Amino acid sequence: MTEISNETRFLHAVEMGLGAWQWGDRMVWQYGHGYGDEDVQKAFQVSLREGIRFVDTAEVYGSGRSERLLGEFIRKTDQPILVATKFFPYPWRFSKKTLVRALQGSLERMGVESVDLYQIHWPSVTMSTDLLMEGLAECVKSSLTRTVGVSNFGHNRMLAAYSALARHNIPLASNQVHYSLLSRGAEKKGILARCKELGIRMIAYSPLEQGLLSGKYSTSNPPSGTRGGHYGKLLSKLPPILKLMTEIGQDHGGKSNAQVALNWVICKGALPIPGAKNEGQALQNAGALGWKLTDDEVAKLDEASDLVLE
Ligand SMILES: NC(=O)c1ccc[n+]([C@@H]2O[C@H](COP(=O)([O-])OP(=O)(O)OC[C@H]3O[C@@H](n4cnc5c(N)ncnc54)[C@H](OP(=O)(O)O)[C@@H]3O)[C@@H](O)[C@H]2O)c1
Repeated sequence: MTEISNETRFLHAVEMGLGAWQWGDRMVWQYGHGYGDEDVQKAFQVSLREGIRFVDTAEVYGSGRSERLLGEFIRKTDQPILVATKFFPYPWRFSKKTLVRALQGSLERMGVESVDLYQIHWPSVTMSTDLLMEGLAECVKSSLTRTVGVSNFGHNRMLAAYSALARHNIPLASNQVHYSLLSRGAEKKGILARCKELGIRMIAYSPLEQGLLSGKYSTSNPPSGTRGGHYGKLLSKLPPILKLMTEIGQDHGGKSNAQVALNWVICKGALPIPGAKNEGQALQNAGALGWKLTDDEVAKLDEASDLVLE
């Protein structure tokens, strides 16, 4: 196990965060239909009240609206917020300067001087990993971000990013990947183990599998929009694992399926960042903290998830 560097230690102390893709996104989350600015503000406020102060956004979320809302919410609180945002590798971005410029744009939208974590959203088709890491190093050296990370990087690309940053004496703070009871690729392909070994925080996105693990969707009640088509086949396989999650939740004083799903991610050693559209969802998700599944329960959930995914 590598020593966790002083700069990135704060991220290892964060148990759970709040995802802000929902804040302004119409395409997947249908912002403006059934929820809006006031609802996400309440989701933010209740999360803070419950001790969750790490927020994950991106320049592309809601075409900048997510960052603008986050800035607005930050100005209305005196509590310290840990901000993570992301650089989107548009194919017309091909120099390391574009990273500094993009981050300056994010900072301007949020009205802050620096962020705590700046991540590469996806690998780039026009920039090599070395070049992207040079850009991230510039962002650190310009004091625009405290730490840097990647997202959607596979095992080898993550190692390349880690080594490239090490040449600048900068630690790779995190790799944000899709990880939930219904998406175990990061675990099966050794990314989670390697992150632990190298002191990289693995941040788990879509930890509720975009709402599926809450148990509210079924073949007769699929999620609306693009999720319906995407998850069509998976929905029919969910009843056994959802039943097990409910039973386990009951043994912990009535924890919901969403809380069990998030607690499982935490038990695996990753940092879940569930998105919430409103106060009720955020409050429920916060209830994933303060208790722990047993090793035996984690093993049973692993087994049930293997059966769904086989
Ligand atoms: N790096 C990347 O490429 C990447 C990709 C995806 C996401 N992310 C980040 O990860 C965050 C989380 O991922 P995600 O938003 O895709 O999925 P998620 O957190 O798995 O699911 C969020 C959705 O589930 C539903 N939900 C949340 N809490 C609930 C509860 N307690 N009970 C019932 N339903 C609940 C809500 O949608 P409905 O009410 O409509 O069902 C909500 O919008 C994002 O906000 C974003 O910050 C990053």
